[in-house]
Amino acid sequence: MIEITIRNVQPEDFERVAEIETICFPAAEAATRESLKARIAAFPECFFIAEKEGVIIGFVNGCITNSPVIYDELFSSTQHHIPNGQNLAVFGLDVIPEYRRKGIAAQLMNHLILAAKNTGRKSVILTCKDQLVHYYESLGYVNNGLSKSTHGGSQWFDMTLTF
Ligand SMILES: CC(C)(COP(=O)(O)OP(=O)(O)OC[C@H]1O[C@@H](n2cnc3c(N)ncnc32)[C@H](O)[C@@H]1OP(=O)(O)O)[C@@H](O)C(=O)NCCC(=O)NCCS
Repeated sequence: MIEITIRNVQPEDFERVAEIETICFPAAEAATRESLKARIAAFPECFFIAEKEGVIIGFVNGCITNSPVIYDELFSSTQHHIPNGQNLAVFGLDVIPEYRRKGIAAQLMNHLILAAKNTGRKSVILTCKDQLVHYYESLGYVNNGLSKSTHGGSQWFDMTLTF
């Protein structure tokens, strides 16, 4: 397993985080700079950075909700965050291309899952495309079928990991 440091996001990470988001997602799916800045300010406890020798190479971010599934407004407004809610909703998992397929996303996801467990959440929820369903299943998520989300004009599946 490649050695990395995982830590909570800090305001000064913003530019690098925004850069990585544009590398990892097409424009229609990427979080906007404004959104990322607002998330970092509003719920850094749900935002984890992967660092290799002091350089940010990936991150995972989300918020807390009482909804059992992701809905599109969650992505665009930090107002939907419910600090003492039941479920951690994952917005995005990003690893820069040079570091992919080394288990870094899995380390980030396992860190987030543990944080959710340790703060008394009931589940972690996310949406993903067809080709990543098997990947999230390998991390313990259950596929609940097609999501109502039309984020970025794509088709998504609802995935849930219940503690
Ligand atoms: C998806 C992503 C986060 C995976 O990061 P990673 O650090 O390479 O992931 P891991 O090393 O933990 O796991 C790799 C596994 O993920 C799966 N996987 C990753 N990308 C895949 C793809 N495009 N199609 C199918 N499976 C894929 C495979 O099972 C792969 O295992 P393998 O190398 O044995 O084939 C990274 O490719 C990425 O940032 N992609 C762009 C953004 C994105 O799609 N994020 C996820 C949706 S929120």
